[in-house]
Amino acid sequence: MDLNVHRQRPPALSSPAATSGPEASWWSRHIQVVGDADQLAGRVADLLLGELQAIPRLPLGLATGRTMTPVYAALAARIEGLPAATRQALTGRWRSFNLDEYVGLPPEDPRSFAAAMRRDLVGPLGLEPRSVAVPDGLAADPQREARRYGAAIAAAGGIGLQLLGLGENGHVGFNEPPCNADVLSRCVSLSEATRRQNAAAFGGDPAAVPQRAITLGLADILRSGRILLVVSGPAKAAVLRRLLNEPPSPSLPASWLRGHPGLRLIVDRAAMAD
Ligand code: GLP
Repeated sequence: MDLNVHRQRPPALSSPAATSGPEASWWSRHIQVVGDADQLAGRVADLLLGELQAIPRLPLGLATGRTMTPVYAALAARIEGLPAATRQALTGRWRSFNLDEYVGLPPEDPRSFAAAMRRDLVGPLGLEPRSVAVPDGLAADPQREARRYGAAIAAAGGIGLQLLGLGENGHVGFNEPPCNADVLSRCVSLSEATRRQNAAAFGGDPAAVPQRAITLGLADILRSGRILLVVSGPAKAAVLRRLLNEPPSPSLPASWLRGHPGLRLIVDRAAMAD
């Protein structure tokens, strides 16, 4: 944990969105606030690149969404700037597992998370598509596919670093509230709030967002070696404030992450603003 994270900025918890008392002290050891979304993307990309260069290393756990697109662009730019041999070694032994996928969307559908990974990482870096695993949204039995996917991660040695975005309702992956910390990979129904949050990718129509998804469970996420939760933009300010102030509970699935000793949050100032 980099304890000098506040070098360029006022203390992370000086914002009105922050908490006070013992909670503040706990979070101050786990959170880094950066200036804007570009800096956020660069900082997260640096951490991912470090993880990718570690030997030996476990698979990466990846997320999709608007927060991650600039992160992956920054990561791809960094990898493209490496000497050819280093780049090839790094991309050649790529192994990652995505968190989630919509049920009913084929991987060719541009709105699927499989397609997002092809756009953001597989294409730009020339990765072997099979090395970037995503649950099969077209599986005949999504519950069974969720169990298969969880077992595949375990068989690969588990996740080393799990990257997470934060839903406006406090979900991580698609672990929707209410949700306990012991749930495993499964097929879930998406809430109205989440379908509204993700409607932009579906022509702005929440009704067009699939009703179900396959997601890693919180228990699977908490088994990762380290967890990096990335929060960006004013739309996340309210839920981030809750996360920083409320004790862990099923109403805020992300709050269970506090039980993980390797949790780190990187947030931008817009998300910290009230
Ligand atoms: C989505 C995904 C998450 C994502 C989060 C934040 O619904 N299931 O994996 O990280 O919500 O998304 P965004 O970055 O678009 O706000």
